[in-house]
Amino acid sequence: MTTLNKPANPNFSSGPCSKRPGYRLAELKTETLGRSHRAAVGKNALGKAIDDTARILGLPEGYRVGIVPGSDTGAMEMIMWSMLGARGVDVVAWESFGQEWFTDISQQLKLEDVNTHFADYGLLPDLTAINQDNDVVFTWNGTTSGVKVPNGDWIKDDRQGLMICDATSAVFAMEMPWEKLDVITFSWQKVLGGEGAHGMIILSPRAVERLESYTPAWPLPKIFRLTAKGKLIEGIFSGATINTPSMLCVADYQDALDWVDAIGGLPAAIQKSKDNLAVLAKFVSENDWIEFLAQAPDTISNTSVCFTLKATADQVKQFIKLLENEGVAYDIGSYRDAPDGLRIWCGSTVEASDLKALLPWLSWAWQQVTR
Ligand SMILES: Cc1ncc(COP(=O)(O)O)c(C=O)c1O
Repeated sequence: MTTLNKPANPNFSSGPCSKRPGYRLAELKTETLGRSHRAAVGKNALGKAIDDTARILGLPEGYRVGIVPGSDTGAMEMIMWSMLGARGVDVVAWESFGQEWFTDISQQLKLEDVNTHFADYGLLPDLTAINQDNDVVFTWNGTTSGVKVPNGDWIKDDRQGLMICDATSAVFAMEMPWEKLDVITFSWQKVLGGEGAHGMIILSPRAVERLESYTPAWPLPKIFRLTAKGKLIEGIFSGATINTPSMLCVADYQDALDWVDAIGGLPAAIQKSKDNLAVLAKFVSENDWIEFLAQAPDTISNTSVCFTLKATADQVKQFIKLLENEGVAYDIGSYRDAPDGLRIWCGSTVEASDLKALLPWLSWAWQQVTR
């Protein structure tokens, strides 16, 4: 036992992520509950969530935003099943989620014209080797390795393929070069601390053109269908969802969007996350027993921050358990497929004061497991 101050909020999970500071379930605007999502009240709420998303993110003119079922996985699979196969595909993966998309592409869709660009945990593949005349599938931030793409400079403006980007742990926390991306997916349960269940897809005009000009060879279940009679189903991008959404989750997402507005919009949310990373980076620089898993400094994620410890797997397990038992840090173990270590969420719903309060506890736990 120790007398150190505890973080006021010990939720450092990488998804579902911490609720925003000051979140109160009772304060959600729930007039949509118990009503049809196709009634004006429901459609307006869905439409506002879409419009606010586009406004806060500063999406370019002509980009569309839709709410779809199945969280980020649903969004990505809907896109891959609807769009891939028109040309070759380059898959870029450096941790488990990128690998999941490769499994879909190679084993489920069984596409044959596929190039892979893989790297181990902690590294990024060589992005300059990607064939951008093919469609490209990649994650912006590898949530399970804490390695992010540093920027979009490597993406060509005159690419022939589509850039399909799973950005679920990046959107609202990192600067995204929207013009260089054709499909962007994310989910509410990540950076904004929302609920699971629904995914978001953002489409560039080129992505819409693909949807309207290409019909895949395989069957598409209703839940994946973005077009009807060769035309984009525009309703999906204005609030007429494919099937019934959870209006409670929508109300929760709107609460998070309102909070982003209240703290100063996207730049403030991004800055908060960067400041959070800085708290941990200082600690790493002062302690030789903990290191970032990401090898190159400009690839260190500012959301899912992953660490290795100079300790055995058992000691790491014990370390995590001690902190959980003390109620100072929940869910900070690395992802099951990742190297043993810690993963501490630093998105903007986490307060720097809580991370600062956590630091002495990390030192304490270290002493406990290595004494
Ligand atoms: C990069 C990435 N892709 C996909 C997923 C799956 O997200 P969901 O559970 O919202 O479908 C996650 C979840 O952690 C993720 O981090």
